[in-house]
Amino acid sequence: MKIINNISNMHDYIDKIKRNKKNIIGFIPTMGALHDGHLSLIHTAAKDCNKIIVSIFVNPIQFGPGEDYNKYPRDIKKDTKLLCSIKKVNCVFIPDVNEMYPPDYATYVQLENEMPKVLCGISRPTHFKGVTTVVCKLLNIVKPDKLYLGQKDMQQAIILKKMIKDLNYKIDVIICPIIREKDGLAMSSRNIYLTPDERNIAPILRKALQIGESMIELGEKDPQVIIKEIKRKIKETDAIIDYVEIVDPETLLKKERISGKVLIAAAIFVGNTRLIDNTIVETKDVH
Ligand code: PAJ
Repeated sequence: MKIINNISNMHDYIDKIKRNKKNIIGFIPTMGALHDGHLSLIHTAAKDCNKIIVSIFVNPIQFGPGEDYNKYPRDIKKDTKLLCSIKKVNCVFIPDVNEMYPPDYATYVQLENEMPKVLCGISRPTHFKGVTTVVCKLLNIVKPDKLYLGQKDMQQAIILKKMIKDLNYKIDVIICPIIREKDGLAMSSRNIYLTPDERNIAPILRKALQIGESMIELGEKDPQVIIKEIKRKIKETDAIIDYVEIVDPETLLKKERISGKVLIAAAIFVGNTRLIDNTIVETKDVH
């Protein structure tokens, strides 16, 4: 497994791979502190692609003021060892923050529709602009055929899919299922912030979303009734609700009535730690 830290070396490495037209490059961008959620994206990519590139970069511009950029878990040694051990990754790209964003850096990429403003965008208004900008830069460096993203961050995946379509990148986007701990908590690099007491509370998010799933399966059509029940369940604990919404999984617009496919998405604070989760429910009726 090659470890590349510098953008021009990465360009050279990718140019060499691209000389063989049969190579299919799969790309998994990450911020490191790797867990089984990240690894599942790599295993999926390895089924379709013969060249697997992972990036590790804690992207400063997707963190808002007062968020956890400085304390975000970083352990490059552990991450590279783990990637090496699974033997599926050809190259890990670990760019330097000063090379990605030199002092005169001035270019940002952002969706001008509602997508980055809803759900997580309400409490994190600059977050998705940071995500689209860094992923755009990484795609220009890695030039993959396929991009692997997790449903764990469904709003991010939908926004990146839209950016890729709008900017005419020839890249397939594959959204992979959420990998969970045994008690249902979605795996996240941020879970290590939780104290033992908070860790016991955290699975409430998944449990509450499952109540929503069941209500839809039993035929409830009013999103507000479902949202109210999900919130009621979360409020049985000390968790603080950021949002619970039911939206269209393609457009992220609020559903007035449950029909077709719906995305139930939620974010809560457990102590100081913000947790997100979601579920997609498919109903039989079309509209
Ligand atoms: P990060 O949080 O490290 O996540 C990297 C990728 O792993 C994302 O596509 C995310 O959705 C996926 N992922 C995380 N937890 C997962 C889980 N439990 N199950 C399945 N997939 C999971 O998301 C980012 O980094 C950044 O915003 C990034 C896209 C790298 C841009 O900086």
